Amino acid sequence: MQEKILILDFGSQFTQLIARRVRELNIYCEIHPFNKVPEVDESVKGIILSGSPYSVRQDDAPHFEFIKHHTTLPILGVCYGAQYMAHFHGGEVLASSTREYGRANLDYIKPHNVLFKDVPAGSQVWMSHGDTIARIADDFEIIASTDSVKVAAYQITGTKTYGIQFHPEVTHSIDGKQLLQNFLVDICGCSQDWTPDSFIETTIAELKAKLGDDKVVLGLSGGVDSSVAAVLLHQAIGKNLHCIFVDNGLLRKDEYQSVLDSYQHMGLNIKGIDAKQRFYDALAGISDPEKKRKAIGRVFIEVFDDAAHEVQGVSWLGQGTIYPDVIESVSVKGPSATIKSHHNVGGLPDFMKLKVVEPLNTLFKDEVRRVGKALGIDPNILGRHPFPGPGLAIRILGDVTPEKVDILQQADAIYINNLRSGGVYDKVWQAGAIYLPVQSVGVMGDERTYENVICLRAVESLDGMTADWCHLPYDLLAKISNEIINNVKGINRVVYDISSKPPATIEWE
Ligand code: XMP
Repeated sequence: MQEKILILDFGSQFTQLIARRVRELNIYCEIHPFNKVPEVDESVKGIILSGSPYSVRQDDAPHFEFIKHHTTLPILGVCYGAQYMAHFHGGEVLASSTREYGRANLDYIKPHNVLFKDVPAGSQVWMSHGDTIARIADDFEIIASTDSVKVAAYQITGTKTYGIQFHPEVTHSIDGKQLLQNFLVDICGCSQDWTPDSFIETTIAELKAKLGDDKVVLGLSGGVDSSVAAVLLHQAIGKNLHCIFVDNGLLRKDEYQSVLDSYQHMGLNIKGIDAKQRFYDALAGISDPEKKRKAIGRVFIEVFDDAAHEVQGVSWLGQGTIYPDVIESVSVKGPSATIKSHHNVGGLPDFMKLKVVEPLNTLFKDEVRRVGKALGIDPNILGRHPFPGPGLAIRILGDVTPEKVDILQQADAIYINNLRSGGVYDKVWQAGAIYLPVQSVGVMGDERTYENVICLRAVESLDGMTADWCHLPYDLLAKISNEIINNVKGINRVVYDISSKPPATIEWE
């Protein structure tokens, strides 16, 4: 049985980060909303309570019956989690009189306390809270303090229940990883055997048992997730996996053929479908970004469904869904407004009536890459920048025509090739060229030109939720600009996007 740690989410922005830190220690963990705690069986080795934007003093503060697990399972409360246990167990939590935000040092650490094994006195930690634990119950013991936060950490005496008011999961807490390891390994007794290889082994065995001789159809996109999902499924069921790769005419230059070749090289049973014209027809005359997305999503489903029907007796749809897409988030301020209708491509149409198999739905993106590497997948596929499902259609502002796609593909290829040869491709999280339907005056030779603009975008990001524009070297930008203007007919001006997200978004549409 796969041992695991439960992380109960009270709505903190850092909850996923806690999960990533736990997994970096090769320990499997799951995030669950505080009010939907799953059955706790013997596979659960311990519980971590996350922080929260709420205060325990609020009437609607999130509740969890920690007393149910206290003394039977190790518990670590982080920030709100620590305050919650202190507050509901005979202590007192008050609004903090001093600002408890940012770096602080653990001036006092109780000697020989297991939670602080190998954490030196003075260790820097990161605080981020408006409330503070003012008083603790008699059976609580302070195990660490800073100069302004007396109860920086506590243990409920004689138990494996701990609370810390700082965030061990952020890198500013220098020994945070050590502290988490102490909790997970020394206190919970986790064995740290959850590795890419063990994941691959158990997942393939599970897929074999689940799918038997059934057939699975899966849409490949050329991206990391669908590729890794395909290889795992292929290793489990071989030729019963039928992959479909659609050329929507909105991919990067030559990408369709090169990706198709590398999939075939990997031994996948794959069918490539040239549906360019169907997509161009559906997009003709549409300028609104959301309408473009919908048109592309609709045609994709039609094309995919036609192809899937050609596979006799298929009963499953494989998908490369990853963990961040399935984590149920704790809504703090109501559902967030839809800014763009993302990830519309690849959804399951009702009429397909297939069961869904998602071999990666417990993994974070970096873990998918590690699993892909262990599976021996081409580093060119694993290291690819994210690319949106609607492709170049949302990088051509306004209506899309095959001519504009051609121009953008040429410019984009020059850009990306230069990022690669300039040695910066892997340092950039995502990059792409954008076609602006704006005409400006230029001069080439003795001729006056009146042509369109290409904008270059490159961002640094962790997950696409926020992003900073990359400070690409001027020389590289100059070279790219020259090459584009000299080689791509229809372009006489190149600009660089220096907006961060927020307030801008990564894509222009
Ligand atoms: P934005 O533009 O919202 O993009 O800052 C964040 C990330 O999402 C990608 N993106 C999409 N991906 N379908 C997709 O599959 C879409 O409609 C879509 N729109 C944006 C974008 O490339 C970036 O990685």
